[in-house]
Amino acid sequence: MIFAGIVAGGSGTRMKSVGVPKQFIRILGKPMIIYTVQKFAEQLHINDIYIGIKPDWHEFMDQLLEEYQIDRQRVHVIDGGSDRNETVMNIVSAIKAKHRVKKGDIILTHDAVRPFVTEKIIEDNIIGALKYSACGTYVKCIDTIIRSNDAETVDSTLDRSTLYRAQTPQSFDITLLDKYYNQLDDEQKSKLTDTCSIFTSVGEKIHIVDGDVINIKITTENDLIIANLLATRV
Ligand code: CTP
Repeated sequence: MIFAGIVAGGSGTRMKSVGVPKQFIRILGKPMIIYTVQKFAEQLHINDIYIGIKPDWHEFMDQLLEEYQIDRQRVHVIDGGSDRNETVMNIVSAIKAKHRVKKGDIILTHDAVRPFVTEKIIEDNIIGALKYSACGTYVKCIDTIIRSNDAETVDSTLDRSTLYRAQTPQSFDITLLDKYYNQLDDEQKSKLTDTCSIFTSVGEKIHIVDGDVINIKITTENDLIIANLLATRV
């Protein structure tokens, strides 16, 4: 089976000016998270979609799903965790509680705050996870990246040809994700920067899926300005 896990358990502290977690901010009138859920709901190979949310916002999320007539047979809301990977793993637990998960079943994990994920990226993640057991979405670095140790002077210029920016989805065989995460101790878990790191930390390879510059993560007020412009074009 193919599942999507939309992580929406954050509070958006870097988006200072608004009173709601950023995933609920409206872009051209529609909440960001609804764009994201609709993108995954349109992909009919995906069986069920799980949204991990802060418990306080559960009821609000239910209301939004009703307002936008999202199919509640297929889209489920569960409690998120204290960090992003815990939200992912809560979703894995919810899937396991409802389905007999077996090897070859996959989950596409995606940030609720990347509402412009494309159909192609979702399809390529499905293909990548089924074939390689683990894949992530990346775009090549087009900027020159430097290293500075004192934040005042440049120490070195990195080799751009080997550098990529990570996006989501990050997609996995569910049984392996569960197994590798549970092999880590608390300190190792606290050092993980993303979900793919669960695999790389045990020496497993992550297949690269081509991302898209349009698949931005909305973090600050500036990103919101860009998002409102992008939404008029997609
Ligand atoms: N996320 C989550 N559970 C958490 C923390 C984050 O599901 N405990 C989700 C966010 O809701 C978001 C995604 O992870 O969709 C990417 O995280 P980020 O952009 O850092 O979101 P926030 O943690 O909300 O933002 P900030 O770091 O500014 O507080």
